Amino acid sequence: MVQWGHPMFLGYFGWTTTAPGILGEVISAPLNVNAMTWRTSPAATELETVVIDWLRQWMQLPNEFDGVVYDTASVGIMHALAVAREQAAPSTRTVGLTNRDLPRFRIYTSDQAHSSVEKAAIALGLGEENVQRVPSNAEFRMEVSALRQMIARDQHEKFKPLAVVATVGTTSTASVDPISEIAQVCREEKMWLHIDGAYGGGFAILPEYKWITAGWKEADSIIINPHKTLFVPLDFSVLYVRDLERLRRVFTLVPEYLRGDTIDAEKNYMDYGIQLGRRFRALKTWMIWRAFGRTGMAARIRDHLRLANLLAGWIKIDKRFELAAPVVMPVVCFRFVDADENKIDMLNSEIVERINASGRAYLTQTKLKGSTVMRIGLGNILTTEQHLRKAWGLVQLAAGEVDRALRARC
Ligand SMILES: Cc1ncc(COP(=O)(O)O)c(C=O)c1O
Repeated sequence: MVQWGHPMFLGYFGWTTTAPGILGEVISAPLNVNAMTWRTSPAATELETVVIDWLRQWMQLPNEFDGVVYDTASVGIMHALAVAREQAAPSTRTVGLTNRDLPRFRIYTSDQAHSSVEKAAIALGLGEENVQRVPSNAEFRMEVSALRQMIARDQHEKFKPLAVVATVGTTSTASVDPISEIAQVCREEKMWLHIDGAYGGGFAILPEYKWITAGWKEADSIIINPHKTLFVPLDFSVLYVRDLERLRRVFTLVPEYLRGDTIDAEKNYMDYGIQLGRRFRALKTWMIWRAFGRTGMAARIRDHLRLANLLAGWIKIDKRFELAAPVVMPVVCFRFVDADENKIDMLNSEIVERINASGRAYLTQTKLKGSTVMRIGLGNILTTEQHLRKAWGLVQLAAGEVDRALRARC
């Protein structure tokens, strides 16, 4: 087993195991209910509606937004873009995309955005190549001027701009795209705006992170993964859509064998996606959020931020390393640079490999503007300053060893 719940597991995004979350899973597992319609489990449906609304309020999304829980953000974006596609090409639900006089649709997202955008385009028949990657700036935020240019070029070449996917908390550096400016472009060009807040969205519960919510009110859809930031065990992802009825219209389909179980006035979550059977995910979420409370969650997130800034401070002091990106959320990208220029990428990869192979800690690597960097994500409530200090010691040690081994080889 790779122990994702271990305090020295610092890969990907901080991922946490908490007693109330475990208890929630323990209670829902033996109940084994299916929340496909209201009637098949009124409690599961009602509780899902309750937690979706709590999160909506915490995120300060207006009342016009309503949501649905899926397993992951990848599934959420596919559903969001299905609605965008239906709006741009009506009747796709009924007659499909082929043999119709339709333009080639384009989706724009930054070069830092998650690969789930391409996966959604693949699944929806929009085509991976029609996801256009917009360059990001030195802070890894989408360049809106480049976005405008790419849209204009595509329009000239008779492509049809369909949607922009903006990210709040990108996978490599947790950067935040300039949503208000992007929203302005979407308004002008009548494009769907989807916000991928899978990781970063949850930070909106902190008043000092209110700035990340600028422009959200203008979005058509937004995804947030409480299983990344808000202490819920995997899996639990919420897609909010402005006027959720648009999503229902694309996916509702009631076969005869379920008709007796569905009444229009009731919320039947099977109507909001391709999935019929649905787990009782809301129980673990309700338990953890009730146990920690909003202020309890905010306090824990602030501690992860404190740790991330502490690590950034240590990195700045050791001149053999440099920070590779601003620390916006508790994600720290850094690089060992005290070596021959053309060996630096390899060295950084080797340091990560060496630490992970030791089993004493786990971190990841990524590429930023073509350079390999190390990456530490904080978010596990068990990770303390002591753990982080130990992990930083391991990085320093491994860097020295790898560097010496390389010099000996040369
Ligand atoms: C920014 C971003 N969006 C989407 C995803 C996909 O999330 P999921 O695993 O819930 O599909 C990730 C995963 O790390 C991510 O970082």
